[in-house]
Amino acid sequence: MKKLIWLTDLHLVDPEQDWPAGVDPLAHLRACLKEIEALHADADRIIISGDLIQLNNTRAYEVLRRELEPLHLPHRLLVGNHDDRDALLSVFPEVDRSDSFVQYAEEVGGARILYLDTLASDGNHHGELCPTRMKWIAEQFETAGDKPLLIFLHHPPCSIGVPALDRLKLQDTAPFADLLRTRRGLAHLFCGHVHRNVSGLWAGHPFAALKSTHVQFDLDMTGDKLVRSTEPPGFAVIHFTNEQITVNYRDIPTGTVSRHST
Ligand SMILES: [Fe+2]
Repeated sequence: MKKLIWLTDLHLVDPEQDWPAGVDPLAHLRACLKEIEALHADADRIIISGDLIQLNNTRAYEVLRRELEPLHLPHRLLVGNHDDRDALLSVFPEVDRSDSFVQYAEEVGGARILYLDTLASDGNHHGELCPTRMKWIAEQFETAGDKPLLIFLHHPPCSIGVPALDRLKLQDTAPFADLLRTRRGLAHLFCGHVHRNVSGLWAGHPFAALKSTHVQFDLDMTGDKLVRSTEPPGFAVIHFTNEQITVNYRDIPTGTVSRHST
């Protein structure tokens, strides 16, 4: 049984910048990391599925590097629409890439884990998998064979029923959906971006989206503007074997870190 800690949408800032939405992203991240350090030091990886920072600024990535180091967990980072590949790689030069994309794969406990780069070429906030990236993904599906496939990507490939968020999902998904539909083995998609816990099925395989460690978007299923909610931040714990994948969600009420009680 392997264990992954999954975080997303940290929206960290340079210490001299204003907090996004008036909420300190570093304090919220630290509340999550405090519990992770106390209860999940045995994890095999900590995976952060994009929007690591709020604005293009290498100092915000330096903040992240400083926070991750004491955990002594191997970290895997993805880019989201708020990220900048060059700034990220200047602070985390060890992050792997394919062509010019922050897109890579590895084997963990007999499963293949893919970390996709869905940053749009035109700088917009929606997601994109261009032909170059799709070619690499198809090759990775071949390499995985029958092994379980865990696919992390920032942008969900389908609507979740919140119009203001659905506009910003992954675009032109037909090639990706076709590829998934041909796959018979275990596969699971893990997405960020929507700042909500969501689960479902798409192209024949389950997907999950995770709330942010910073602030959440409201479950507004009629309006066309993004609305923030007061729901607490959180993270998830993923366990997997050759036969099953489970996702446990954990809320971290702001300013407090709950511990086990008897
Ligand atoms: Fe985000």
